[in-house]
Amino acid sequence: MLVLGIESSCDETAAAVADDKKNLLASVVFSQSEHTAFGGVVPEIAARDHLEKVTGIVRETLEKAGIGFEDLDAVAASAGPGLIGGVIVGVMTAKAIAAVRDIPFVAVNHLEAHALTVRLGTDVPFPYLLLLTSGGHCQILIAYGVGRFKRLGATIDDAAGEAFDKVAKMVGLGYPGGPKVEACAARGDPTRFDLPRPMVGKAGCDLSFSGLKTAVRRIVDSYGENGMSDKDRDDLCASFQQAVLDSLCSRLKNGIKIFKKECPDGRFLVVAGGVAANKALRSALEKLAAKNGLTFAAPPMNLCTDNGAMVAWAGVEHRLAGLSDSLDFSPRPRWPLDPSGKR
Ligand code: KG4
Ligand code: ZN
Repeated sequence: MLVLGIESSCDETAAAVADDKKNLLASVVFSQSEHTAFGGVVPEIAARDHLEKVTGIVRETLEKAGIGFEDLDAVAASAGPGLIGGVIVGVMTAKAIAAVRDIPFVAVNHLEAHALTVRLGTDVPFPYLLLLTSGGHCQILIAYGVGRFKRLGATIDDAAGEAFDKVAKMVGLGYPGGPKVEACAARGDPTRFDLPRPMVGKAGCDLSFSGLKTAVRRIVDSYGENGMSDKDRDDLCASFQQAVLDSLCSRLKNGIKIFKKECPDGRFLVVAGGVAANKALRSALEKLAAKNGLTFAAPPMNLCTDNGAMVAWAGVEHRLAGLSDSLDFSPRPRWPLDPSGKR
């Protein structure tokens, strides 16, 4: 079974082909760069760029995979949540291919695509405990199966990736901030600045990052016009990153207790989403999992931030479960993974 996946929900135009034997035949990611000057993604610019690039990206992906449209068994697209202009571009492209080739169309929830990516390369069985942490979302969930997620907690304000991006902007590192803050943090002293650990010690699995971001802002402002030295900036990045890790790990500890009660046979702690590319986070989670008798698993680094492979694989999982969507499926700017959740 060969499935084409298209991703265009934020600032990556991407496509990939995956099969039902967990192979990735080709994956092409184009990261839009026009947003750097604005310090964040501008939805209208993103949508126009997706429209311009998507056809070429799909063609290049099929060429790399060595196949034609006639070899596809299904086509999937990120159909939300995300910036709606971009989502419409990917969904319309996928629907057009599905209509012309008369093959199933799969409307993939972008968050589910992140959540399932770990199963593309490795054998991670359901159920697993999942930290889903990206630029727009930060949630702790139990993944029971395709389309079956229970949310244990979520951020009550900013997402962790968003906090990384905002801190990067404050200290003059530019967008996207996560990898830049991580690089500075690797050189810095994480104990230099005393920053809050939001929500630590409270019951439940909700998260919060806006207070931490404000605390960083106060420190940056205290340096006044002279600005910070490179050493100050590295130490602040390291202290910020440590606070995020402490906060995530502490909230996950509560999540692990719930997971063990609800799923005594569950064995895996999984991280997904753009922030999962952070090496310090991966090693902190690996330790946390080992301490609690779980095995840590994460997608390969290049499949953490947005890509087409995660969408193609989610398409495969849906088709294996016998699922597809109608061609009148409407793209969704909001689409919670756990419909019973409030946020
Ligand atoms: O999943 P993703 O590509 O897009 C969304 O669905 O939001 O995640 C992008 C986010 C950005 O906020 C980016 O700064 C963050 O992931 N990110 C990182 C790292 N790489 C990407 N955050 C921390 N450390 C990283 N190495
Ligand atoms: Zn994403």
